Amino acid sequence: MQQEKMKISSHREIASQIFELSLEGELVNEMKQPGQFVHLRISESIEPLLRRPISIAEIEHRHKRFTMIYRADGKGTRMLSHKKAGETIDVLGPLGNGFPIERKKGEKALLVGGGIGVPPLYELSKQLVKQGVEVFHVLGHETASKVFYMDEFSSLGKTYVATVDGSLGTKGFVTDVLDQEDLSFDCLYSCGPMPMLKALENKYPAIEGYISLEKRMGCGIGACFACVCHLADDPSGTKYRKVCSDGPVFKIGEVMI
Ligand SMILES: Cc1cc2nc3c(=O)[nH]c(=O)nc-3n(C[C@H](O)[C@H](O)[C@H](O)COP(=O)(O)OP(=O)(O)OC[C@H]3O[C@@H](n4cnc5c(N)ncnc54)[C@H](O)[C@@H]3O)c2cc1C
Ligand code: FES
Repeated sequence: MQQEKMKISSHREIASQIFELSLEGELVNEMKQPGQFVHLRISESIEPLLRRPISIAEIEHRHKRFTMIYRADGKGTRMLSHKKAGETIDVLGPLGNGFPIERKKGEKALLVGGGIGVPPLYELSKQLVKQGVEVFHVLGHETASKVFYMDEFSSLGKTYVATVDGSLGTKGFVTDVLDQEDLSFDCLYSCGPMPMLKALENKYPAIEGYISLEKRMGCGIGACFACVCHLADDPSGTKYRKVCSDGPVFKIGEVMI
């Protein structure tokens, strides 16, 4: 983990309120695992005080560059969206443990993303494809104007989209796509809202799978306990994991969601 003022190499809106932000710097050398995240200090002033956790969406070691995709929603991310190429951002990272990707050539992987849970699946998909794994993507969004990276995902493997209002792809949720398409796969990877992760856990109880949790965070490095979640097989309710330092990726069934 390093802290570095990284230079913005590009920053653009790629869908409604969805921004793609690429940064350059030495810190990229430490990025290996898809699913890890960085913690961004948005401003030099006191507001906003806390850093914002954002997933790594793509790593380009050759250019010492990485890319994030985020939704400008609350105070901090809206401020972030005004930053321009050439400016710097204070980055702490890479943080957390990402998706395990050691798989056999010829295996099939299902990648399911919801909303701002989609970005970390892009680097994951690239790394799986590089190993000879066949990937399927099922991506869920609110509406067509919020959909991003369809071409990028499609160039890696078969890609299905679901929108809640039916403006693109299947009307409904990712689970509606999964009910329609009879996909067979060896491993499941997912990131998105908790109800979506829960639905996947219920649908595929016996499959090897990994989910990435997006909890509210304070420090991002395991010191403040803001991101604690409980273990699923602990009736006493006293055992826990920290999403920032033990996760954000956990094996399906390990933690309570
Ligand atoms: C490991 C991880 C990876 C993430 N990856 C992405 C990503 O790739 N793209 C993306 O758009 N978003 C991602 N998020 C969610 C993102 O961190 C929040 O949406 C963002 O921090 C909200 O900040 P804000 O200034 O817009 O909102 P505000 O409401 O102003 O934020 C207030 C506080 O709440 C925290 N917070 C609010 N919502 C969330 C949330 N859903 N998760 C965690 N903290 C939250 C903020 O960090 C801040 O401390 C990720 C979260 C985690 C934990
Ligand atoms: S955010 Fe501080 S312990 Fe996880």
